Amino acid sequence: MGKDVIVACDFSSKEEVFAFLDKFTEEKPFVKIGMELYYAEGPEIVKEIKKRGHKIFLDLKLHDIPNTVMKSMRVLSSLDVDMTNLHAAGTAAMMEAAIKGLTKSDGTRPILIAVTQLTSTSEDRMKNELLIDKPIDEVVMHYALNAKNAGLDGVVCSPLEAAKVHEKCGTDFVTVTPGVRFADGEIGDQVRVMTPAQAKEIGSDYIVVGRPITQAADPVAAYKRCVSEFVG
Ligand code: C5P
Repeated sequence: MGKDVIVACDFSSKEEVFAFLDKFTEEKPFVKIGMELYYAEGPEIVKEIKKRGHKIFLDLKLHDIPNTVMKSMRVLSSLDVDMTNLHAAGTAAMMEAAIKGLTKSDGTRPILIAVTQLTSTSEDRMKNELLIDKPIDEVVMHYALNAKNAGLDGVVCSPLEAAKVHEKCGTDFVTVTPGVRFADGEIGDQVRVMTPAQAKEIGSDYIVVGRPITQAADPVAAYKRCVSEFVG
């Protein structure tokens, strides 16, 4: 899998996202479209950004019964996205159905990755609300392995977990890691962060970077810095 920087376009309208993307006259960053933008603008936003030549990670985190997920993934696959995701908590049957729905008639499909436990779910909440009694690290690694066994390509995880995921699931199993900050930058609401260079060192395959690029005084320079630190 190619190492790349994915820019989290956490904007609420197409005007904002296009104003941001218009700044990139030479580079065509890999773009993450999340729920906010997708629900505000619908599938057209995916088509329009794709038409501009960007690769797209559609971050909608599906989680439903297998049949519904299969049919929904078929729709997302027809949008020609490059990467999408689901919750591993939907179990193997749902993940296998997702792959079936995503796979096109020529046998190709977007990269499919799983969310294990959201970083907002603490061990305490997992134990008391979800009644999952195991340590959170064990749960994350177990869900990653479930995703691998179901045929998925990788997981979203903290850069701090990337090395362990590769150890458990193999170096080919893709790690997509948010929580990246420049050494001299603002951390914001992220808690456990790494620089692009550290994420590279630890073996992340893709880093997802939002505000350090989108809110930078010069987003193109920030993007280029990220690429040079991470990809080299
Ligand atoms: O602006 P920032 O770089 O913090 O953006 C990170 C992106 O990665 C956001 O779109 C956020 O929703 C996403 N993300 C995250 N932590 C996770 C999963 C996804 O920050 N555990």
